[in-house]
Amino acid sequence: MGRVLLATAEQLQLASGLSIVRLTLHVLAASVWVGGQFVVLGLLPTVREFGEGAPRKIAQAFGRLSWPAFWLLVATGVWNYLAINHADASSSWNAVFGIKMVCVVVAGAGTFMHTKATSPKSRGIYAGVGALASIAALVLGVAIAG
Ligand code: HEM
Repeated sequence: MGRVLLATAEQLQLASGLSIVRLTLHVLAASVWVGGQFVVLGLLPTVREFGEGAPRKIAQAFGRLSWPAFWLLVATGVWNYLAINHADASSSWNAVFGIKMVCVVVAGAGTFMHTKATSPKSRGIYAGVGALASIAALVLGVAIAG
């Protein structure tokens, strides 16, 4: 027996053409920036077997992909923000967006410091800070997307 669904204001709607482009680019860049960090970490024990300089070479190669992805996140993030109807934004939405922006800055700064650190200990600490802040930005992004 088929059920008749009535159209209501709360019915799920498809995203429109340009929103699909905007959100796809944002999510694709997040998957490279955040997902890539997990992949590089997971490959590290194998990469070490290729010699002392191998982890640095792989990290540099990943940086050539991940930094453009980070700047694409910032550019599409600004686009996301401008596309929102701000009259509809609750104070909790604004607060979570603000916390997300702090996480984005910490993610970028932590990861940058990781590339400049000279001791293995500080390299590890900065990598951890950058990765955790990146994951937090991702989770908060999902929260504000609703
Ligand atoms: C590390 C950097 C970032 C990560 C990992 C990230 C991740 C995400 C993710 C996963 C979503 C959910 C997308 C969806 O479910 O449709 C999202 C949404 C969003 N992001 Fe980001 N983002 C980052 C940076 C930024 C920046 C810099 C801005 C603003 C300048 C921004 C603004 C937004 C906005 C406004 C939304 C909601 C989009 C909507 O509902 O239409 N993001 N983000």
